[in-house]
Amino acid sequence: MSPSVSINTQSPILQAHVSRNEPHIVIDGGYPLTGSIRVAGSKNAALALIAGTLLATSGKTVLHNLPNITDIADLVAILNSMGAVAQFSDGNTTLTVDASGTRFNEPPPHLVSRMRGSLQLLGPLLARQGIVRLAMPGGCNIGARAVDLHEKGLRGLGATWTIDSGCFFAEAPFDGLQGGAVYLDKPSVGATMNTMMAASLASGVTTIENAAQEPDVVDLANLIVAMGGIVDGQGTSRITVTGVKVLHGCEFNVSPDRIEAGTYAIAAVATGGDITLIGADFNALSPVLSKLTDMGAHVATDGNHVRVWSGSVQTLTGTSIVASPHPGFPTDLQQPFTSLLALVHGTNTVHDSVYEGRFGHIPCLSKMGANIKVEGSVTIVSGVTSLSGADVKATDLRAGAALVVAGLVASGQTRIFDIHHIERGYQDLCVRLRQLGAHCWRVNVGDMDTMVME
Ligand code: EPZ
Repeated sequence: MSPSVSINTQSPILQAHVSRNEPHIVIDGGYPLTGSIRVAGSKNAALALIAGTLLATSGKTVLHNLPNITDIADLVAILNSMGAVAQFSDGNTTLTVDASGTRFNEPPPHLVSRMRGSLQLLGPLLARQGIVRLAMPGGCNIGARAVDLHEKGLRGLGATWTIDSGCFFAEAPFDGLQGGAVYLDKPSVGATMNTMMAASLASGVTTIENAAQEPDVVDLANLIVAMGGIVDGQGTSRITVTGVKVLHGCEFNVSPDRIEAGTYAIAAVATGGDITLIGADFNALSPVLSKLTDMGAHVATDGNHVRVWSGSVQTLTGTSIVASPHPGFPTDLQQPFTSLLALVHGTNTVHDSVYEGRFGHIPCLSKMGANIKVEGSVTIVSGVTSLSGADVKATDLRAGAALVVAGLVASGQTRIFDIHHIERGYQDLCVRLRQLGAHCWRVNVGDMDTMVME
């Protein structure tokens, strides 16, 4: 838990903060980020790895370096409801899972609907139980987010697939899943992961062509190998999985979160700061770091840390980005990057080729004084000399991150509401930002007279 203090809301300085009775983030902008923080484990890798623990029929799987965020807690609750025994330790950053007793095949819909990551239960439950019924997953509202490629991957292994009363229903053939050739029309991260997990316990060899190359996919493949499975080609567009009869528990470290690290790097450059990201993976971050250096920011690494620093945002050169599958610029950072571009001289564009509707941050950035237009799937950003603080709402996880970056650099005070989106993906955000010198608090409004600033 974050350190917290109770505060008397009758204090005149704080009166302004309690006009809305819901948790929110308050940022007094204008302080450069300086200092160092340790990068948390990758949210998107961790969600798949936790689902992947269900593949082990014997032994315990211990995952280290998990981020302490709400999506992880929700997925672990699902595991426990399926008959597995999953327990956190080390401040919720280590998880020990004994999946040997997994016996149900229908995860609770109210938990499934909280996140997209629950879709990753399809592959392992189908492989283990031969049948799975999954309610519609939730997650950020950023585009169509189809599931046809998950269906294609599982059908490629012989499964049947139907949609029944709003649930996905997949069933393996009587004699079990059979390896096969799967071509993914798009390099979907989730479909690659589900196909890999199902194939790991199928008989024979599965090839996945046009597979996603994201580091999160590599983490999952390496987990399957550590459990006794056979996976080759992870990190390339052609993955081969040779099915084995059983998988066992193992110990595994989740890779650092390149999206969390990238968000802090962008915020450091936007505020003219100088930060060191301890444990960041330089190679995984290079699509965003190379854009930051193109703009005139500085980046250095000694292999274990990544340092990012820059002068005033006004001295940076503009750049345009096209978000695309790895190793392209990550879609999950295009929204925070847009907040940086909002202050850079000239007109630049942001095109998201992965999601057609990832624009929830734009109206709020405009409210803060940004000059941004959306044309089709392209955001056109004309730099302004300053942003000003305002009351804004996070419409999705990375839209929230974009508003945090904007708030850090804006003059005056920004209050961000609907922060449950942000808390799905960023561990102790305000605590970490304060560690870097930001003036930023999570305000938890309790009863009428007290609130807690964390
Ligand atoms: C994962 O989503 C991440 N989520 C996303 O992170 C991330 O943006 C995305 O990968 C891309 O990197 C999790 O890991 C939980 P996709 P996923 O399948 O797997 C289309 C964040 O902010 N598609 O690679 O759902 C889809 O519509 C989030 O942390 C199909 O057409 O992404 C999208 O346009 C948000 N049919 C594209 O492919 C399908 O069956 C990429 O989606 C599946 C996907």
